[in-house]
Amino acid sequence: MPQDPDHPPAKRFKPGSPFFRLDKKPGMLLPRKGNASVPIDVQRKNLPIYQAKSQLINQLRQLHSAVLIGETGSGKTTQIPQYLYEAAIGRQGLVAVTQPRRVAAISLASRVAEEKKTQLGKLVGYTVRFEDVTSSETKLKFMTDGMLLREAIGDPLLLRYTVVVLDEAHERTVHTDVLFGVVKSAQRKRREQNKVPLKVIVMSATMDVDLFSQYFNKCPVLYLEGRQHPINIFYTKLPQSDYLQAALVSIFQIHQEAPASHDILVFMTGQEEIEALARTCRDIAKHLPDNCGPMMVIPLYASLPPAQQLRVFQPAPKGCRKVILSTNIAETSITISGIKFVIDTGMVKAKRFNPESGLEVLAVQRVSKAQAWQRAGRAGREASGSVYRLYTEEEFDNLLPMTVPEIQRCNLASVMLQLLALGIPDVMNFDFMSKPSPEAMRTALDQLDLLGAVEKKDEELVLTPLGKKMASFPLEPRYAKAILLSPDFQCSEEVLTIVSLLSVDTVLYNPPARREECLAARRKFTTSEGDHLTLLNIYRAFKKVNANKEWCRENFVNSRNMGMVGEVRSQLREICLKLSMKLESCGADTGRVRRCLAHGLFMNAAELQPDGSYTALDTHQSVAIHPSSVLFQGKPAYVVFNELLHTSKCYMRDLCLVDADWLVEAAPEYFRRKLRPTKS
Ligand code: CDP
Ligand code: MG
Repeated sequence: MPQDPDHPPAKRFKPGSPFFRLDKKPGMLLPRKGNASVPIDVQRKNLPIYQAKSQLINQLRQLHSAVLIGETGSGKTTQIPQYLYEAAIGRQGLVAVTQPRRVAAISLASRVAEEKKTQLGKLVGYTVRFEDVTSSETKLKFMTDGMLLREAIGDPLLLRYTVVVLDEAHERTVHTDVLFGVVKSAQRKRREQNKVPLKVIVMSATMDVDLFSQYFNKCPVLYLEGRQHPINIFYTKLPQSDYLQAALVSIFQIHQEAPASHDILVFMTGQEEIEALARTCRDIAKHLPDNCGPMMVIPLYASLPPAQQLRVFQPAPKGCRKVILSTNIAETSITISGIKFVIDTGMVKAKRFNPESGLEVLAVQRVSKAQAWQRAGRAGREASGSVYRLYTEEEFDNLLPMTVPEIQRCNLASVMLQLLALGIPDVMNFDFMSKPSPEAMRTALDQLDLLGAVEKKDEELVLTPLGKKMASFPLEPRYAKAILLSPDFQCSEEVLTIVSLLSVDTVLYNPPARREECLAARRKFTTSEGDHLTLLNIYRAFKKVNANKEWCRENFVNSRNMGMVGEVRSQLREICLKLSMKLESCGADTGRVRRCLAHGLFMNAAELQPDGSYTALDTHQSVAIHPSSVLFQGKPAYVVFNELLHTSKCYMRDLCLVDADWLVEAAPEYFRRKLRPTKS
């Protein structure tokens, strides 16, 4: 495991050398021999974990709880479930393996099914939000942590499962943190009630696992012998003001100097910047001089369609270098072979939270030291490698040692709603591994109260009938509320569509090379009512032409994601029907839809100021309309928005025009306090 003192003294490099004359195109590409030629059974036996197999099985058979540590790529996630199955441990029920990310759950399930030589969905399956690929035969079930949490609402003792593997525990996502508590309590209650015991295996790629072991009654920690090769660490001489430019220069510097079979992994912060850099790299790579081979640039981020994600595992053709531009997803949850160079921008996009206001902001920020080491480690998986840190050694020294668990920096409204739905009596004293601040918990409960989801009964906080219904949707409380209120405004069909559109990856396709064409096509659907209604117009037009692919192409609409919207929508609709809701369409009267959205999103409202800027009504902080919004040019007096993104400014994304009256009507008490006196 990489630790500060064990690393070789850092060398220094300075990105910034200008590169290349642009002239020649790459020639024909031939496939390079990759891992694919090694039979899969042999690949399994070559994994570091294989050495410890029998020992592991013996220990896991005896233990109720265990923590397992091993370097990323040692085989924990793919092998442990199979070892348990082969040793008939917990065969009476299912083995659940939780993942923080849906992509990881899907790709791991596919891989394990392949290793087991069965069809996905039979012995090995997966369950992620809006998608369930399991059957009555399924014994090994990969799932997102959020899905297991959802199942716990109907089955708090998790009786279907005999083993729960909490994987990627070091990531400390909110859902994993809540699951720790839920699983621990299920385990204890099953013991007390003499039910089939529940085995809990916590898996982590980092060493700091004392907390996990403490929490699970001081359970043993099993270490897997790592296979980490030495890594050269390079820092920049000077702080970089533009990490993207620094990354670009570093990529081509390496590309110019290193053998083509040495792949590069670049850690960046998000989809937009990854796609932009990918385009730039491809453009430059088209015009490289003779002495430079071709380059295959592959983006990797969580919302990429699974089929495209699988591309990162495919070896590049011979003589061609693979350059993977990834979010922190490749830090631990996805292992890619062939990586010799890591470029670490030192940045990550993560949630930040203001506990007083309950407003959550996505912001690009510095990684922790633990994350930086994890990123560096990706370069030394198969042989020695190098990491280029696009920051100075001094900047590294000033990083936080550990990433703060998400539960301590996010809005807890969903968590609190789920805990209450699980029937946990005293949520403020829930057995969290790392307790969120009391203010953050209280703010979340206040928000649920504002949404009408909770009430006091005999001094105890419980869900209202509306709150219970809200918990039955796999959605954030505010969207669930909008759906539940939609019958009052006779616009359920529309609100269902909008929430579904917001639940999948964007249906808008924005190729930068055809920007003008794309804007012209989009103008047909744009409305001054805002982004939600513009999306609704696109969906309606899409339906009118019967999901015609040609239409999608002409209108820059991603037809695959549109297909997903349809699926999500019918699932949400089913939940509505189970709740006996009357589902109507408002037709052309879309004001109803906006009024309904105001009732769900009123806590994210902003008001135009005399100077043309906006102020968030909740925090009174200054916010701006994101340039991607259809309202960017306009100056509506009041808007509600989906989220805040903090980059150069604090931007509101996905906006909907609303009336001040609707906000007041949604939460009279709250707005009496928030709105400026002249407006009320
Ligand atoms: O969980 P851990 O990081 O210890 O390793 P793993 O996910 O079980 O991966 C072990 C190996 O399986 C990787 O090094 C890959 O070679 C392979 N694998 C794969 O080919 N495709 C996947 N979707 C997942 C793993
Ligand atoms: Mg793993």
